[in-house]
Amino acid sequence: MPASPTVEFVSLADIVAAGPAANGAGEGASALVVLAGESMAFGPQTQRVTAPAAAAIERAARAAKFKGKSGSALDLLAPHGLGWDRLIVVGAAPKKDDSAKDAAEPMDFVGLGGAAFGKLNGATRVAVLFEPPGAADAAAAADFALGAVLRAYKFDLYRTKKKDDADKDAPVALTIAVADPAAARAAHAPRAGLADGVALARNLVNEPPNVLYPEEFANRAKELEKLGVSVEILDRKAMTELGMGALLGVGQGSVRESRVVVMRWNGAATPDQPVAFVGKGVCFDSGGISIKPAASMEDMKGDMAGAACVVGLMHALAARKAKVNAIGAIGLVENMPDGGAQRPGDIVRSMSGQTIEIINTDAEGRLVLADVLWYVQDKYKPRFMVDLATLTGAIMVALGQEYAGLFSNNDELSERLKKAGEATGEKVWRMPLAPAYDKMIDSKFADMKNTGGRYGGSITAAQFLQRYVEKTPWAHLDIAGTGMGSPSSDINQSWGSGWGVRLLDRLVRDFYEG
Ligand code: BES
Ligand code: MN
Ligand code: ZN
Repeated sequence: MPASPTVEFVSLADIVAAGPAANGAGEGASALVVLAGESMAFGPQTQRVTAPAAAAIERAARAAKFKGKSGSALDLLAPHGLGWDRLIVVGAAPKKDDSAKDAAEPMDFVGLGGAAFGKLNGATRVAVLFEPPGAADAAAAADFALGAVLRAYKFDLYRTKKKDDADKDAPVALTIAVADPAAARAAHAPRAGLADGVALARNLVNEPPNVLYPEEFANRAKELEKLGVSVEILDRKAMTELGMGALLGVGQGSVRESRVVVMRWNGAATPDQPVAFVGKGVCFDSGGISIKPAASMEDMKGDMAGAACVVGLMHALAARKAKVNAIGAIGLVENMPDGGAQRPGDIVRSMSGQTIEIINTDAEGRLVLADVLWYVQDKYKPRFMVDLATLTGAIMVALGQEYAGLFSNNDELSERLKKAGEATGEKVWRMPLAPAYDKMIDSKFADMKNTGGRYGGSITAAQFLQRYVEKTPWAHLDIAGTGMGSPSSDINQSWGSGWGVRLLDRLVRDFYEG
């Protein structure tokens, strides 16, 4: 993993005082990043610093038809009169909100930071004059830094041959000049913890399945103890005693033993009921005896993205010392075909006592979650449970890769998730649950079957999960389309996206802390 960029905040006034020739000393190419509003408007300090190159900037902008459109950039090499190897003008003009005429959309500074970082072209000593059009506070500057750090993430642990451009792998030293550096530093601290949580989730999803099997995944989760999280690991014996027959049935064809990990962060002042997050952690999903086709089967190393998100979230909550009591529970299994593997036709008994007829061994995620949801609800009596799972291919048919599917028994929790989604860009779209779908998973031989037929596959899967939730407010997020292999964005270039860490951190921060 390349070191993530170092972030430092300095005062804009100091940069102005240092004069136009300053770029600090050091190895590697330097770049000065400035922000331009509509029709290339610069803030007053930015204007002062770039004044010696004003004519060249104007000429370059005209030639490139650069108008300051948000996310676009103008790259000037060694501009005369400035001491920098490049001057990168990043467009930061407010986007017009189509629904409200003339009203500007609130600036997405996380996205802007990511977009700016994407324009560095190999520069490793970088100063940003953070003087965007309109009002911008310390939180805006810290958001910008967060976006840059998220964008910088790369998973290259297993590359032994570097690309020719050595500079590209050197960590970037990012200096952000702001009006109030102390306030920006304070706002940056919790975001740094959040960025680390996202990176941790991405790492787990990107790791190959021969390295990251259930036991190793549990070891990685155990490392959260360093942050003050208590971590309990249930092995096969403990799970057998608890009666987790649904989860254990999925793992029984693998030489890798299953695990359940429960992480607990107690950050609230009072011993309040915890909030709870549950993740599907299928470290590799071959489909089992109902084996998947070979094409893209390698992607099924990411079938633990829900569990990865829960671990990343627990990291973020602990790192920023969130004032909340939170449980993170993950069911870790490997779904493999084998002489000892589960068969279609098998009937298993879940921890809840309900029996399940296995129709398709590839519908394994719901079996894992059934036992973990039940265990968490029974043991911790949480205020709510949110589960995340790369549960169905059908959710991609319905929603593509932009939105995760949201299924819930609770309107308030759904509304809050929707708001947190809009705030972070990790968007959710609510899908139905209804008794009529429930009938589709009734079984001739057991209390239910694990598939519901061709239609409404994501809904019948959610309907199945609901049978393991009693009165607890609960939401299920189907992240098959968003947790892995989603299109690259300004703030994510990684296959494992770490989707959900920012969403749920925001849910906690906005509605359950204090
Ligand atoms: N892990 C898969 C779902 C999945 C597919 C996630 C593609 C990400 C990308 C899940 O375990 C699965 O196999 N679901 C089946 C369910 C079916 C057998 C009822 C599916 O979606 O086809
Ligand atoms: Mn499957
Ligand atoms: Zn799966």
